[in-house]
Amino acid sequence: MSNLAAGAAPGKVILFGEHAVVYGRPAVAAALEHGLGASAEPDDEGPTLRIPGWGKSGMVVRLAAPNKAFDAIARAYAAALDAAELGRPPVCLTLDGELPLGVGLGSSAAFAVAILRALADFRGRPFSPAELLEAAATVETVFHGTPSGLDHTVVADGGCLRFQKDAEPAFTPVKLPAPVPLVVAWTLRQGSTRDVVAGLRARRDAHPAAYDRLFDLMAQTAEAGIAALEAGDHAALGALFDINHGLLNACGVSNLENERMVRVARDAGALGAKLTGAGMGGAVIAVVPERPARVVGALRDAGFSAFATRVG
Ligand code: PMV
Repeated sequence: MSNLAAGAAPGKVILFGEHAVVYGRPAVAAALEHGLGASAEPDDEGPTLRIPGWGKSGMVVRLAAPNKAFDAIARAYAAALDAAELGRPPVCLTLDGELPLGVGLGSSAAFAVAILRALADFRGRPFSPAELLEAAATVETVFHGTPSGLDHTVVADGGCLRFQKDAEPAFTPVKLPAPVPLVVAWTLRQGSTRDVVAGLRARRDAHPAAYDRLFDLMAQTAEAGIAALEAGDHAALGALFDINHGLLNACGVSNLENERMVRVARDAGALGAKLTGAGMGGAVIAVVPERPARVVGALRDAGFSAFATRVG
């Protein structure tokens, strides 16, 4: 059976400013070369969604026969069909790609944008950029409650953006002279983004002055990081990753696995490394302009998943 329609979307990494962004400081995020692709085929039992790479042995979600284990995915798929004004068509979407689920690499935003693009292609009418953002926000809300908008904006835009929630405009482009070579590694997370954010909130409420100084230092690091990104200065970028990681560690959001991944990457030749996203496991990113295979190999030998990629 031939494909009817297709759509794709990249994953994302936060380069600077996770957690501090919750307290009004700037963050920088960029689209990954790695992402997800969705293709649509006719399916009499549809709407169906297949995701062979997620879950223990892949996921198959049929809206007519819901499986409780994949309830959030089913609701997100239904929200995407509604946003595309497609009703419940006899179609099967298959989602493929190399983006792991739930480690902070923007899998839910890439899920939203890739399936929305495939559904728009299927109906024969693309979303405008503003419609795509609005629809992606609706789908993301199923997973995250109140997303900041950073993930799906970066994923839909495909570039590198500075984000500050109370600024006007909230998003400004960071102009990269060339894509930035990164190695991404990940492991399972201990708890959700929500849990990690809540834990930090409690620590900050107990010691506001100390934590606010850490957030100010993260803001300075993010601004210096933007300068390094715009200059294409990999050495400065690596040094600033290391500083940002130390500050995140001081905030209590780095666990032993994050520390091991960062250490292994640096020892194997990375110019700098930090956790990315919420932390307590999940993903780390390292600046590796030369011999990325060595860093990927060292991380895999240490028991982690890893790939070399580029952002922006
Ligand atoms: O790990 P992710 O992709 O869910 O990112 C979380 C980023 C935080 O700054 C920790 C939370 C937030 O809402 O910005």
